[in-house]
Amino acid sequence: MVCLGNICRSPLAEGILREKTKKLSVNLTIDSAGTSNYHVGEHPDKRTIENAFKHNVDISKLKARQFSLNDFDNFDLIFVMDSSNYSDIISLARNNDDKEKVEMILNRVYPNANISVPDPYFGVEQGFENVFTILNNACEIIVNSLIESL
Ligand code: 4NP
Repeated sequence: MVCLGNICRSPLAEGILREKTKKLSVNLTIDSAGTSNYHVGEHPDKRTIENAFKHNVDISKLKARQFSLNDFDNFDLIFVMDSSNYSDIISLARNNDDKEKVEMILNRVYPNANISVPDPYFGVEQGFENVFTILNNACEIIVNSLIESL
């Protein structure tokens, strides 16, 4: 899961996906990263932690890191939150295999629409609940397709 700062959207998506896949008996590696290094080493934004907690998703222990080229080798699927994350990650891709791993996460909900997950960082409190609803829905679809592929 990739966003800009790795303190709002992508750690939330990581936490939601981890929670939803807990009950599956498959070994999944789920992680998140930022395209920027702005918040490396920091815990998620307090507002995101608190909102996630209301939904029984604990992301308080996560720490931000920057996306690295190794991530193309270590992960089969790379979900980005918005179109600028998409172009940033695609510009790092070393080959077609890398590029094919990268998807805008909301394309799982609205195929080919290239809709971005809004960034709640500079916005109002309600934005965090909105982002939770959006990512919860997207992660539900991702988990269902994972189950179908097992
Ligand atoms: P995120 O939100 O990409 O969802 O983690 C942001 C966090 C920090 C900044 C921008 C977006 N920032 O500019 O510091």
